Amino acid sequence: MTWDIQVPDVASLPEWQVLGQLRQDMTDVTLRELFASDPDRAKDLTLTACGLTVDFSKNLITKPVLESLLSLADAMKVTARREAMFDGSRINTTEDRSVLHTALRRPANEPLHVDDVNVVNEVHEVLAKMHTFSDAVRSGSWRGFTGERIRTVVNIGIGGSDLGPVMAYEALRFYSDRNLDFRFVSNVDPVDLHEALHGLDPQTTLFIVASKTFTTLETMTNATTARTWLLDALKDPAAVRRHFVAVSTNTERVREFGIDSENMFGFWDWVGGRYSMDSAIGLSTMIAIGYDQFMEMLSGFHDMDQHFLHAPLYENIPVIHGLLSVWYRNFLNCQTHAVLPYSQYLSRFPAYLQQLTMESNGKSVTLDGTPVSMATGPIYWGEPGTNGQHSFYQLLHQGTTVVPVDFIGFAQSLVPNQQQQDLLMSNIFAQAQALAFGKTAQELSDEGVPPELVPHKVMPGNRPSTTILAAKLTPYILGALVAMYEHSVFVQGAIWNINSFDQWGVELGKVMAQAIAPNLSNDGALPPELDSSTGALIMRYRSLKS
Ligand code: F6P
Repeated sequence: MTWDIQVPDVASLPEWQVLGQLRQDMTDVTLRELFASDPDRAKDLTLTACGLTVDFSKNLITKPVLESLLSLADAMKVTARREAMFDGSRINTTEDRSVLHTALRRPANEPLHVDDVNVVNEVHEVLAKMHTFSDAVRSGSWRGFTGERIRTVVNIGIGGSDLGPVMAYEALRFYSDRNLDFRFVSNVDPVDLHEALHGLDPQTTLFIVASKTFTTLETMTNATTARTWLLDALKDPAAVRRHFVAVSTNTERVREFGIDSENMFGFWDWVGGRYSMDSAIGLSTMIAIGYDQFMEMLSGFHDMDQHFLHAPLYENIPVIHGLLSVWYRNFLNCQTHAVLPYSQYLSRFPAYLQQLTMESNGKSVTLDGTPVSMATGPIYWGEPGTNGQHSFYQLLHQGTTVVPVDFIGFAQSLVPNQQQQDLLMSNIFAQAQALAFGKTAQELSDEGVPPELVPHKVMPGNRPSTTILAAKLTPYILGALVAMYEHSVFVQGAIWNINSFDQWGVELGKVMAQAIAPNLSNDGALPPELDSSTGALIMRYRSLKS
């Protein structure tokens, strides 16, 4: 199916103008006043779905703002576009591809035909193969070349082939098989692999080479070095079969690398790298937590997909979340968005979201190739709380930049120390409160703060945040949370009318690095067309090398 949904330039829409006016009207409105004038604000602006409670009430919005954002979504045909994504239309127009990560979590009895192929069948065939393999590694029936059982799994991949697996492993480590050790290698910096291999026994190490294309420089370089490391020890090329498996869409290249296609787990070009953690790219996750818990994660993803697909827009968590990002980016001129999980297990979640959000929506042209008429994707960043409180929160509270924040927290601790969990969570609630309501000069004076200190201690408040709360971090909740962000990204991209599913901007640097590489390893003359800065840096590099 081709993509033929036409939309006007968003900035020319009356809804856009109304939002601009509403922003002006809100210049002097404070969250204190909004809460004081409406006792039901928290209730009305809190949504629940798939085990997530999402409190949007501490955002800088009024009812008219929300209504206008929803009208904007209507005008930009967000629902029609959403359906086009789910039904397999080729909405990734520049690569002429369907965008079907939602098919990865569809139950086997919900077929989806794309070009006459039931893609859900294919998905479940791969899941079954992953099931057999992950059970074999976990039980010890999969043995290394010398007959030893596998003790360490090393995932070699980068971007979506690393960030999803490492994030999910860290997030779900509590549920993982502690007899197995997991390591993740992504950087072409040789120390990454070196450190990952430190102390490992080749006889008990399994490598997963995860690469959609199986051509990515970093991954192929690291995989080749890892193969040499293995063969140096085991001395027989036949060992590769027992110690290397591949996750890829490129059978040919996998075979060329020397990995048996028996040991290859496939996926499809309709899965974008940053949307692939629930495909075979999640093989390391399945080995870590087992098939059943992996399937629980998929059901969290699927339930959020269903919520996104069926909930009315005003009760739709990813829709509201995405529209708020547009509000902040385009009308309040916020350039960044912080994601602050109050869970050490989610320490890699902000990094994962950086690729998901910024590779998707860091675009400057609309679907038809014309320049966008407004700012697009914000910069996402973050760190787990409470650590961030002791570093960058100062700027969040009193800096001159307003940063919308997502707080993510859990009611139950996974470890038996609920008292400490209460302490952790009291911080999340307090931070959201302090950001929203601040502290006035009057309040400080009333507390007896010396006048000369008052201006330094004033907390301006009015700093927006969304709080996402769940009972506890489970595979299901992780799936729901990731899907929520995936669909929020989709909504933002639909409003900006950009292609959230290509990533042409990363190509040029890769090509240029390949052109530069030979000049670093030889002493020959530099290409005359090289700019003077790069030329001088290369010459300096050469001399520093020796
Ligand atoms: O360089 C960007 C990118 O193409 C990402 O989109 C992708 O996740 C990553 O590289 C890795 O690609 P591959 O899985 O093909 O190795």
